[in-house]
Amino acid sequence: MNPIMIKFLLQFMLIGSVYGKLSEVARRGGYGRRTLDDVRQRRIYEQALNYTSLQYYTTDSEKYFVKSLPEIPQNFLSELYSGLIPIDMSNASRALFFVFQPRVGEPVDELTIWLNGGPGCSSLEGFLQENGLIQWTWGQFDPTINPYSWVNLTNMLWVEQPVGTGFSIGTPTATSEEDISADFVKFFKNFQDIFGIQNYKIYVTGESYAGRYVPYIANEMLEQNDTCYYDVNGILVYDPCIGSWAAQNDITVYPYVEQNNNVLNLDKSYLATLQNHDEVCGYSAFRDQYMRFPPNGTQPPLYENCTASADCCTWNSVYDAAYGPNPCFNVYDVGLQCPLLGDVLGYPTDLQYSYPSQPVYFNRTDVKISMHAPLDVSWLECAANPVFVGEGGPQDEGDSSPDPIQYVLPRVIEATNRVLVANGDLDIDVLTNATLLAIQNMTWHGHMGFQTKPATPINITLPDLQYQSLFSTQGFDGLDVSALLRSLPVPCTEWIVIGTPRDYGNPAL
Ligand SMILES: *[C@@H]1O[C@H](CO)[C@@H](O)[C@H](O)[C@H]1NC(C)=O
Ligand SMILES: *[C@@H]1O[C@H](CO)[C@@H](O)[C@H](O)[C@H]1NC(C)=O
Ligand SMILES: *[C@@H]1O[C@H](CO)[C@@H](O)[C@H](O)[C@H]1NC(C)=O
Ligand SMILES: *[C@@H]1O[C@H](CO)[C@@H](O)[C@H](O)[C@H]1NC(C)=O
Ligand SMILES: *[C@@H]1O[C@H](CO)[C@@H](O)[C@H](O)[C@H]1NC(C)=O
Ligand SMILES: *[C@@H]1O[C@H](CO)[C@@H](O)[C@H](O)[C@H]1NC(C)=O
Ligand SMILES: *[C@@H]1O[C@H](CO)[C@@H](O)[C@H](O)[C@H]1NC(C)=O
Ligand SMILES: *[C@@H]1O[C@H](CO)[C@@H](O)[C@H](O)[C@H]1NC(C)=O
Ligand SMILES: *[C@@H]1O[C@H](CO)[C@@H](O)[C@H](O)[C@H]1NC(C)=O
Ligand SMILES: *[C@@H]1O[C@H](CO)[C@@H](O)[C@H](O)[C@H]1NC(C)=O
Repeated sequence: MNPIMIKFLLQFMLIGSVYGKLSEVARRGGYGRRTLDDVRQRRIYEQALNYTSLQYYTTDSEKYFVKSLPEIPQNFLSELYSGLIPIDMSNASRALFFVFQPRVGEPVDELTIWLNGGPGCSSLEGFLQENGLIQWTWGQFDPTINPYSWVNLTNMLWVEQPVGTGFSIGTPTATSEEDISADFVKFFKNFQDIFGIQNYKIYVTGESYAGRYVPYIANEMLEQNDTCYYDVNGILVYDPCIGSWAAQNDITVYPYVEQNNNVLNLDKSYLATLQNHDEVCGYSAFRDQYMRFPPNGTQPPLYENCTASADCCTWNSVYDAAYGPNPCFNVYDVGLQCPLLGDVLGYPTDLQYSYPSQPVYFNRTDVKISMHAPLDVSWLECAANPVFVGEGGPQDEGDSSPDPIQYVLPRVIEATNRVLVANGDLDIDVLTNATLLAIQNMTWHGHMGFQTKPATPINITLPDLQYQSLFSTQGFDGLDVSALLRSLPVPCTEWIVIGTPRDYGNPAL
């Protein structure tokens, strides 16, 4: 068992005992009103928000200004804009939908773009459930403030792209990452013109399939040779599809299941069969040969073909099997169990599910009106129809571009020396070791892969801004709840940082 898992388990056990004590408190008289207020964190930003100074409000931008949002307390809103901006200003038939929120605090001359993946999934997920200021995620009855929002640090731009995603309009035509990047840079220039932005440092970030979007878009920006609009300073990708991830998931899934079966609970005979397939399909030998630091040569091309040999599609097999012991299995967080949490965006796991009183938020007419979204578009978190219209491609998504490790990712690393690749250890959708294996087949700054296994921890010392007051107002002062809870999302993340040749560089965020 690796140290990260042990750390996670310890935390899990400690939290179990904390919850036990809390239920005693609840039995003794329930939570007081003050505590509930603390939980909701309603006051955190009251002083920070200041409508007397709107940094980007002009005659060009005013039609995008968001005055209020249904269900969201007014004091949760800081300066916020959203709407459609055409890719080509002379023809509005193809346009991307964006949400722009300036930094809360001192202004900064930089802009961070966030993209969700799919392909075809909406970046409004990032806005409402990941790094935005208003947090309304799975299992939440009503929205809260996210004290860790990225708008604490930077101006944020969430974009629904490519065409075919979310509220964005137009008929999908893309067959490659080059196609969608060409659209994106045009949209982005129009966006900057409307908001009077020039000479900003640009950071491009995203997760999952955006592991392909982000380096291709950053590369296309570098290609423009125009630092007035496209001064790319770095990128960040989480659980990214940068290599042959489906095949690399098959190669790395068996040891993952073996090490995490305390939460997956798959039975012994299943594990034995899986181990056999891992051997017979050559995955164990592949790991021995290529999961090395420095790498032992170039990996052969890998394609997953589940029709040709179903037994060797070990990841698919695990995915199906996992729902047996845990019907609420969540492919993005294997630690979650039942009950299934309702999701105001409609997809808490790979199942569509929201609480009866919570219709899909961005599909509400009142929300569409507030956000200047097209009323005739039926919003879905992930598009029902393909956003790439090609055939095949290296990842069989109709997207013909080579994997980012082949060219664009090394190029962006070499141009910026500020590229962060991170992977959640509890995410089984893109396995940490699959990402690592992809990196070991990539050449940048003249060397292939990491020369030594990345092992230096990053110590995150932010205080716990979410639960500390809840615990301390109820007599849990002695417990270092802060360290415990603060680190909760952290053990889920393994950071792999690529900087100047092989050291850390400056993190972008
Ligand atoms: C709001 O901003 C204005 C102009 O920047 C400043 O004068 C005022 O003190 C601010 N108010 C608060 C409550 O921060
Ligand atoms: C606008 O673009 C659409 C889609 O590309 C095209 O069908 C249409 O003819 C264009 N309209 C004009 C006026 O150019
Ligand atoms: C984010 O900003 C708010 C308001 O200024 C502040 O209370 C909070 O501590 C900040 N969060 C972090 C992680 O610094
Ligand atoms: C940017 O510069 C590179 C190298 O000088 C050149 O190959 C490329 O065509 C230029 N791009 C544009 C859009 O001018
Ligand atoms: C990931 O790969 C490393 C070898 O680099 C191995 O030691 C570790 O057990 C693997 N972890 C999982 C969860 O498969
Ligand atoms: C390194 O690769 C070579 C060529 O594929 C192979 O023969 C050798 O066994 C590999 N070394 C290790 C330690 O896996
Ligand atoms: C590894 O890289 C080589 C060339 O750089 C490429 O041909 C091969 O397809 C890659 N293999 C994987 C698994 O990405
Ligand atoms: C997968 O394998 C099947 C059966 O061998 C074959 O018919 C099919 O063309 C293969 N698919 C791809 C994408 O190679
Ligand atoms: C969105 O609203 C439309 C009607 O306006 C409805 O047909 C559709 O089913 C809704 N979609 C979701 C995911 O709720
Ligand atoms: C992480 O930071 C905390 C607080 O500064 C410190 O007590 C701890 O020793 C650090 N841990 C590591 C591994 O550096």
